[in-house]
Amino acid sequence: MEIDSPLPLLGGLSARQFMRRHWQKKPLLVRQAVPDMVPPLARTALFDLAAREEVESRLIRHGKSGWTLKHGPFARRALPGRQQPGWTLLVQGVDLHDQAVHRLLQQFRFVPDARLDDLMISYASDTGGVGPHFDSYDVFLLQAQGRRRWSIGRQRDLGLQPDVPLKILSRFEAEQSFVLEPGDMLYLPPRYAHDGVAVGDDCMTCSIGLRSPAAAPLGADLLARIAEAHADALQDEPARAAVHYRDPTQEPLATPAAMPAALQAFAREAVQAALRDGDVIDRALGESMTEPKPTVWFEQGESPEHWHAVALDRRTRMLYDARHLYINGESFRASGRDATLMRRLADQRALGRRDLAGASDDALALMGDWCEAGWLHAE
Ligand code: SIN
Ligand code: CO
Repeated sequence: MEIDSPLPLLGGLSARQFMRRHWQKKPLLVRQAVPDMVPPLARTALFDLAAREEVESRLIRHGKSGWTLKHGPFARRALPGRQQPGWTLLVQGVDLHDQAVHRLLQQFRFVPDARLDDLMISYASDTGGVGPHFDSYDVFLLQAQGRRRWSIGRQRDLGLQPDVPLKILSRFEAEQSFVLEPGDMLYLPPRYAHDGVAVGDDCMTCSIGLRSPAAAPLGADLLARIAEAHADALQDEPARAAVHYRDPTQEPLATPAAMPAALQAFAREAVQAALRDGDVIDRALGESMTEPKPTVWFEQGESPEHWHAVALDRRTRMLYDARHLYINGESFRASGRDATLMRRLADQRALGRRDLAGASDDALALMGDWCEAGWLHAE
């Protein structure tokens, strides 16, 4: 991606300028971020997705009796009529199901892939919305169809209304408000209060959502992965190599149930030794960040006879670091020319004939496995 050229998507800022000035710092309103915007998905196709078991969807209504929230799947007849005001349907992870939506998400790859979460599409009838709230993550709100008024504020008071099935701010104070037309986009940093209300029927908004792991659950996930990898490695280790606790200077005890301090020190050292190698944590992180969401599944494919071009499946998550490749929750060590090739695959999400001509047998065998798993497709 060209990071120093001005982009219409960012209102004429380059990706570098946007990241310096706005990213995680302050909002940006871009008129005609996507000129001649056509919704990447028709309303009926969105409703069809909301009817599917493996797609996460929510229906939010606001009326005299307050806010209501229902979780999908929704049969078409379970959705209110389009002329009925005050409702919105939210469909999560649309990029996993639709190639045009996946392509739209690719325009945001000036942000690390590890930080991009998914593209959600909301459809709202007149006055529909999810209420004033804040999100813990950055978001790009791209108006796909119809009009929506966004009111935003920097407020510190993030107290929520009690006894409401969704997160609604108790005291929302808008500082600015804009009506977005198709193709307009609003970027908001995390925890910025906002309220988007449909102005007229058939309002469709794409939310390009980011993710940022919280330290404690990330730590717990990584420790679990490290423990599993460690246990696997031990299975291959001969018993005679094991280092046992020794206590030749242990005194006799009148209080035999007391835990020996030396045993505690031995245990602490055993745990620290398992974590000392930074590689172990890097691997666990790469596997964690590329783990497909629980609803994602891949259709099995075949390893090609001839390698002309390959492209990652739109559901595949692939990352790399200096020593490894990570793909859909697995990690591989890579170095030299193969590593260069695989990094190109991860960055471009595709390789052409010239790239493939230089691939080693090992690299082709690995890509063959990925084709069989449905993670990669030969063209
Ligand atoms: C919406 O599209 O209505 C909700 C998106 C958001 O506020 O994050
Ligand atoms: Co929001």
